[in-house]
Amino acid sequence: MSEYALEIRNVSHYFGDFRVLDNINLKVLPGQIVAVVGPSGCGKSTLLKAILGTHPPSEGEILADGVPVRGPTRDVGIVYQQYSLYEFLTAEKNVSFGLKLDESALWERFFLFPKYSKLRREHLRKSREFLERVGLEEACGKYPGEMSGGMRQRVAVAQAFIMKPKIVLLDEPFGALDEAMREELQNMLLKFYQENLIAKREGRRPEYTILMVTHELNEAIYVADRVIGMSRFHNDGHLGATIVYDRPCPIFHPDDERDYGKFVTQREELRRAVFDEEYIKHRDKYVTFWGELSQLAGSVANAGTH
Ligand SMILES: Nc1ncnc2c1ncn2[C@@H]1O[C@H](COP(=O)(O)OP(=O)(O)OP(=O)(O)O)[C@@H](O)[C@H]1O
Ligand SMILES: [Mg+2]
Repeated sequence: MSEYALEIRNVSHYFGDFRVLDNINLKVLPGQIVAVVGPSGCGKSTLLKAILGTHPPSEGEILADGVPVRGPTRDVGIVYQQYSLYEFLTAEKNVSFGLKLDESALWERFFLFPKYSKLRREHLRKSREFLERVGLEEACGKYPGEMSGGMRQRVAVAQAFIMKPKIVLLDEPFGALDEAMREELQNMLLKFYQENLIAKREGRRPEYTILMVTHELNEAIYVADRVIGMSRFHNDGHLGATIVYDRPCPIFHPDDERDYGKFVTQREELRRAVFDEEYIKHRDKYVTFWGELSQLAGSVANAGTH
């Protein structure tokens, strides 16, 4: 197993002559929840597609748990803004669908039926376990049409995590939800983070490693433990977007009072460093995550004592 759940090495991407991504370098530790922000059109979704393996980058290399990404695999999961569930399957069957495809061939389902039915029971058991983790234990038998937008997004999250990926990508996952629903799903991520902390304390590898694109700066700082900003406006003469901000951010417990006032300074710094074209930026001025990691370790330990 690699030290890093995800490693991006010198990744650039072009559409024709248009340089979208310029020399992206990033390492993500298992158990990190990393938020990615940046102006619309700067290449966030392009980067996620490269990590997913569906659209390989023009230059550079991406590794999931030390293994080069050469195409979509179980190692990288994704949840999009618009829920992508099968309307004709219940929540339980939606969540177990990936396991069914991946772990049983069609001929086995017919010709080795007793073996398959045992495997199927195991898949459905796991599916219920993951639905419980996203707070949907009551909704196993419901069809997507019978669920709210927030419930459907939870099913999509369970669908991604049941495959035990090394990393899950979320592309504006809560963008289509109303405020209350959005807050509930943010809390779900905070709970995942607490589970990660428990795993680390017990010497296990944390299960939830997430890279989440969001256009909401408060959401980025609130749910993540690390925020990355991408921008084309950096001053070293190239045009594509690169990482211009990479800093740790405060950890919140799901039971904490939701007080965005606590990180107003960091939000302002992030806004200027990533979105303000007039602001003088130097590529590495705010790319200080690894230097700050030792301080982060201290605050994680404190957050874990709740
Ligand atoms: N298949 C494509 N062919 C040509 N250009 C593309 C293609 N896909 C994306 N682009 C361009 O690449 C740039 C980055 O697009 P991308 O969707 O990655 O941005 P984004 O940061 O996700 O934006 P948003 O925040 O609006 O979702 C945009 O200028 C877009 O027009
Ligand atoms: Mg996008």
